Amino acid sequence: MRLEGKVALVTGGGSGIGEGIVRRFAAEGAIVYLGDVDVQSGQAIAAETGARFLSLDVSSSADWARIATDIGASHGQLDILVNNAGVISSQAIDAIEEAAWARVMAVNVTGPMLGCRTAIRMVQAAAAPRALSIINVASTTSFLGLANDVAYTASKHAILGLTRSAAAHCARERLPVRINTLHPGTTLTAILQGHIDENPAMRAVFDGMSPMGRMAAPSEEAAVALFLASDESSYCTGAAFVADGGLTAMHPTM
Ligand SMILES: NC(=O)c1ccc[n+]([C@@H]2O[C@H](COP(=O)([O-])OP(=O)(O)OC[C@H]3O[C@@H](n4cnc5c(N)ncnc54)[C@H](O)[C@@H]3O)[C@@H](O)[C@H]2O)c1
Repeated sequence: MRLEGKVALVTGGGSGIGEGIVRRFAAEGAIVYLGDVDVQSGQAIAAETGARFLSLDVSSSADWARIATDIGASHGQLDILVNNAGVISSQAIDAIEEAAWARVMAVNVTGPMLGCRTAIRMVQAAAAPRALSIINVASTTSFLGLANDVAYTASKHAILGLTRSAAAHCARERLPVRINTLHPGTTLTAILQGHIDENPAMRAVFDGMSPMGRMAAPSEEAAVALFLASDESSYCTGAAFVADGGLTAMHPTM
């Protein structure tokens, strides 16, 4: 019960890594809000785990304002925010369409910015502020370029800058707010399972991306998120936590 009584919001909690985080946080005693655009799967995961479903498009400031009002009225503030919702474009630099670029930036960069701003302002407005831990879900693509997805690569680099700036500001202002990035490696979620179902040879490709020779399970990423969400990471802020099976440690050609 490492999160007992803490109020957490997990965006994109209706699938994959976010779902894994919802499951683990609920098992550790947190009051979990699950925000997602996918109402059907979000409500199903919420019903199964005891989480509370919120209809949330992370790129909408109006949605964040509604959530701040609702959670503020019940709990004053959030103790944990996981900015996990993310999308891909699968378009290289010579093919990228402006609408696809804008959508990826809106969900993967503007979304976490709005989430951070909302949660920090809730702390600032609280009569008796509590500690807040924000986890921004990034990627190994924050350090390495995906040739076939320029928007996703740019967005996952940007979330590092967002995290470092916001973490430094909060620490300097002596706000009780820590913000870190979690960088998952190749994780077996619905997107990757879809590729494998279409072409079973892809399993070996995904497994071979890390020197461990296998993909991560969402629960392995959730375990790192749990550490960052809990008070055990009290001196960690503005830092990058990589859980990638050694992918970024390995020389690509030797
Ligand atoms: N799966 C991997 O291998 C991997 C690796 C590195 C990083 N990541 C990152 O982890 C996060 C989760 O990835 P996943 O593989 O679990 O994805 P997923 O597609 O399984 O789940 C993403 C969830 O986000 C929701 N979502 C999409 N747009 C949204 C929006 N605008 N507002 C609210 N919710 C929205 C979807 O409905 C879905 O439930 C993403 O940020 C992704 O970039 C994933």
